[in-house]
Amino acid sequence: MTALSVRGLSHAYGGVPVLTSVDLDVEPGQVVAVVGPSGAGKTTLFRCLTRLVRADAGALEVHGRDLQQLEGAALRDARRDLGLVFQSYNLVRRLTALQNVLVGRLADVPTWRVVLRRFPAHEQALAASCLDQVGLLRFAHTRADRLSGGQQQRVAIARVLASRARVVLADEPVASLDPASAGAVLAALRSLATSHGKAVVCSLHQVDLVAGFADRVVGLRDGRVVLDVPAARFTPDVARDLYTPELERTPAR
Ligand SMILES: Nc1ncnc2c1ncn2[C@@H]1O[C@H](COP(=O)(O)OP(=O)(O)OP(=O)(O)O)[C@@H](O)[C@H]1O
Ligand SMILES: [Mg+2]
Repeated sequence: MTALSVRGLSHAYGGVPVLTSVDLDVEPGQVVAVVGPSGAGKTTLFRCLTRLVRADAGALEVHGRDLQQLEGAALRDARRDLGLVFQSYNLVRRLTALQNVLVGRLADVPTWRVVLRRFPAHEQALAASCLDQVGLLRFAHTRADRLSGGQQQRVAIARVLASRARVVLADEPVASLDPASAGAVLAALRSLATSHGKAVVCSLHQVDLVAGFADRVVGLRDGRVVLDVPAARFTPDVARDLYTPELERTPAR
């Protein structure tokens, strides 16, 4: 079954269209990179995919469940299938790396255990193995706010790994990282798909990183999908064209 299926998703802010009839399919084990100039609507698309924002129109299915139509407890339950790795780090700053990963298990661990920081040994072992998989086991007991930006993103990825989420949404997870840290974060995201069969959708501005990372590239411009190609066909020329403002574009060659 398709992990994430978006049909005709449209959204406007104050009457100004920001997304127009966006279609997107992501299969289990697949990494899709979402690229496009600033203001193209990438973050808005991610907000709609999580239902942080309810799109004005369209269908949004996560493993066959239409998130657009759900409310309350049913929506919260469906959202557990989504793992978020967002631009601004979404870790609890004063908790350790290990505790942050355990937060990803919230659906399975009673809240009071998180509050009192008491977790059964098997939960701790699971969280530790997830940190190990992103190369951060030695930071298990370090507070999140003492980790570098790249390490924090990898903790967020370990948290997704520990959770039940099968669809991973990452909005510019490497925006403010140096090349080595960015590479480590993208490799960890890639392995969520390759080794764990999760569907990964990730927006990126560094188009040179796409080739070694994604299976498919979806290009947004002015809220529309203008490109949906295998990563191998996302050549420097295609990338340049996507990022060239409309007025400067030459007619189709
Ligand atoms: N809450 C909001 N209210 C009104 N307009 C908004 C809001 N959020 C975004 N927009 C507008 O929607 C458009 C798309 O913004 P969005 O943040 O989705 O772009 P983006 O592709 O993520 O850009 P960037 O690459 O800079 O992150 C922009 O024109 C922006 O000004
Ligand atoms: Mg954005």
